[in-house]
Amino acid sequence: MSVLPERVVGPRLVLRRWRVSDMEVLRDAIQDSIDHLRPWMSWIEFEPLSDRDRTALIRRWEDDWKAGQEVVFGAFVGDQVVGGCGFHKRAGPQTLEIGYWVHVDHLRRGYASEMARILTSAAFTVPDIERVEIHHDKANTRSGAIPKALGYHLGGESTVKPHAPATIGIDIAWSMTKEEWPSSQYV
Ligand SMILES: CC(C)(COP(=O)(O)OP(=O)(O)OC[C@H]1O[C@@H](n2cnc3c(N)ncnc32)[C@H](O)[C@@H]1OP(=O)(O)O)[C@@H](O)C(=O)NCCC(=O)NCCS
Repeated sequence: MSVLPERVVGPRLVLRRWRVSDMEVLRDAIQDSIDHLRPWMSWIEFEPLSDRDRTALIRRWEDDWKAGQEVVFGAFVGDQVVGGCGFHKRAGPQTLEIGYWVHVDHLRRGYASEMARILTSAAFTVPDIERVEIHHDKANTRSGAIPKALGYHLGGESTVKPHAPATIGIDIAWSMTKEEWPSSQYV
């Protein structure tokens, strides 16, 4: 089992695994953005986490990464948190799924697009990974614009349980294969 990358660098962004020492900046970024994240992100229902629980969560993310499982990144411009993203393993050993969110003060600057683009390239450097997927609720059209613009293929719709207040329970899956990902996109 391959360990996933822990740091991915793009033209503007550094994506790196959250560290315990980031607890406060992660807490503040989520707190600032909570009203904008709540409609779409299932994990917001557990917020606000106590500092102790958030520290434990970051430790759990670290253990998961060491075990070759998921990886959860902070997205930084300098030392400023502009969002978060990650790789999830939900669709078998040859597929990684990308998730992302952007801090409310940093929307519409192309940061989610950059995260998705550099994570796609990074995914295809992992041995055995042949496919990357991005999933979003059908109502979350802003999220869907990102894989579309990157040339991902629109897959099927499936009915799921609505997982956050604005979701309607229709999961849209986009996918990209290693073969089709343009070499020009590698960072
Ligand atoms: C969906 C979400 C991640 C999009 O983040 P974002 O960083 O604003 O998205 P981007 O900036 O990459 O792309 C969106 C817009 O920026 C524009 N853009 C792209 N590159 C740009 C750049 N370099 N400079 C300025 N604008 C740019 C795009 O053309 C697009 O424009 P549009 O909004 O007019 O269509 C954000 O709204 C969010 O955090 N939502 C809540 C959480 C969520 O839904 N996550 C996904 C769950 S599936």
